[in-house]
Amino acid sequence: MTGLDKVFIGKIVNSLSGLKVEVFERGYVTVRGRQIIDIGNLADKCECLDKKFGNVERIQLKNSQILIPGFVDTHIHAPQYPNCGLGYDKTLLDWLDAYTYKLERVYRDSKFSKDVFDKVVKKCLDHGTTTACYYGPLFNSANVILTDSVEKYGQRALIGKVTMTQSPYPDYVEGEEEFMKNITEFVRHVLSRQNDLIQPIITPRFALSLNSSQMRQLGDLAESQNLHIQTHIAENKDEIRMVQETYNKPYARVYDDAKLLTNKTVLAHGIYLTDEDLDLIAERNTGISHCPDSNTCLKSGLCDVKRLLERGIKVGLGSDVSGGPVPSIRQAMKSALDTSVHLSFIKDNYEPLTYDQVFCLATIGGAEVLHMQEKIGNFAVNKEFDALIVDVDVESCQVDDVLDRTPLEILQKFVYCGDDRNVVGIYVAGRKGSF
Ligand code: GUN
Ligand code: FE
Repeated sequence: MTGLDKVFIGKIVNSLSGLKVEVFERGYVTVRGRQIIDIGNLADKCECLDKKFGNVERIQLKNSQILIPGFVDTHIHAPQYPNCGLGYDKTLLDWLDAYTYKLERVYRDSKFSKDVFDKVVKKCLDHGTTTACYYGPLFNSANVILTDSVEKYGQRALIGKVTMTQSPYPDYVEGEEEFMKNITEFVRHVLSRQNDLIQPIITPRFALSLNSSQMRQLGDLAESQNLHIQTHIAENKDEIRMVQETYNKPYARVYDDAKLLTNKTVLAHGIYLTDEDLDLIAERNTGISHCPDSNTCLKSGLCDVKRLLERGIKVGLGSDVSGGPVPSIRQAMKSALDTSVHLSFIKDNYEPLTYDQVFCLATIGGAEVLHMQEKIGNFAVNKEFDALIVDVDVESCQVDDVLDRTPLEILQKFVYCGDDRNVVGIYVAGRKGSF
């Protein structure tokens, strides 16, 4: 083993695809540089660690700690961070007009942009988000600043300069002549950084922000450079009515006709997708970002994630800041559980999701939605090591446990009553964060 190797020893909870978890009571993960090279259980208490691991750096977890894969936030609006907690007396379309566009317009100001983006990226990492799929603001200059912040703190991210030619604010839209030039330049900029933790993502805001020919131009650009795509779909009943009036076809078809539904597309929300929409989404192997906090705060509705999963659709979790109030995927897990329990009150024979299942959505599920499952999402040999050390014995924190718990009990406590203070260690591509 080389000097760069390290081994983590202790309780491990790993996620697997198909909503299964794998538990190592006396586990170890060995890491070389960025990559996982081995994972398993120590044979017995007396196994000689010197003999097994040689001269590598050993990180021994405490009894109150577990090692878990890093969280993937599949949908977060970085520029909306200052609006967290505001405007939840409104529903989506009024909230966008009254709060969201008004704030996003301010990102012409570089100093303000840098201040907010440093804060939001750092806060995401504090909460354990090793990979974030960001919506950025409209202006290229501010998106470059967001990319600087992500790079500075070493997060893995997809960064999407939002594209919109329609909004109530004449100074917060792009013209027909400039929107393709802007996005093409931003994509070129991100790729020129040659930072393989950061990729651009094509981001038409939603079907009411562009016309079909403009969306098609974005679809063509994504296809020509094999880029990721993200947008919103079927989030709110008024939005759906307006999409139907504008396009006179099913919502998913609007995007598919613009070549925007691919296996690298992330669709946020999807609360009101019809069976016809779901058939198309499943056929294109497109993923859905479930954003339960936002769905509740903006009173959009209850998304039945099990219905999506049963059709083989990929599902991850999104904080949807500032539709959701906290850039925390732990919080999204808790809210996904609440939503599922609430659905079980109104649906017959509905088994709610369990804490270990939402943990899978938060990790490997998110990686699948971002089409990064070959690289991240869980612990597997040859994948990159994105990981968290979670401790439930943290003084002055809501979870301050003194008993010896099993790995799954530690996970359960963290999911239901943890916060960012329980995330005591974070690694992205093998590199320890110190944020
Ligand atoms: N639909 C279009 N834009 C937005 C946005 O910023 N947030 C949410 N939640 N939905 C949207
Ligand atoms: Fe959103």
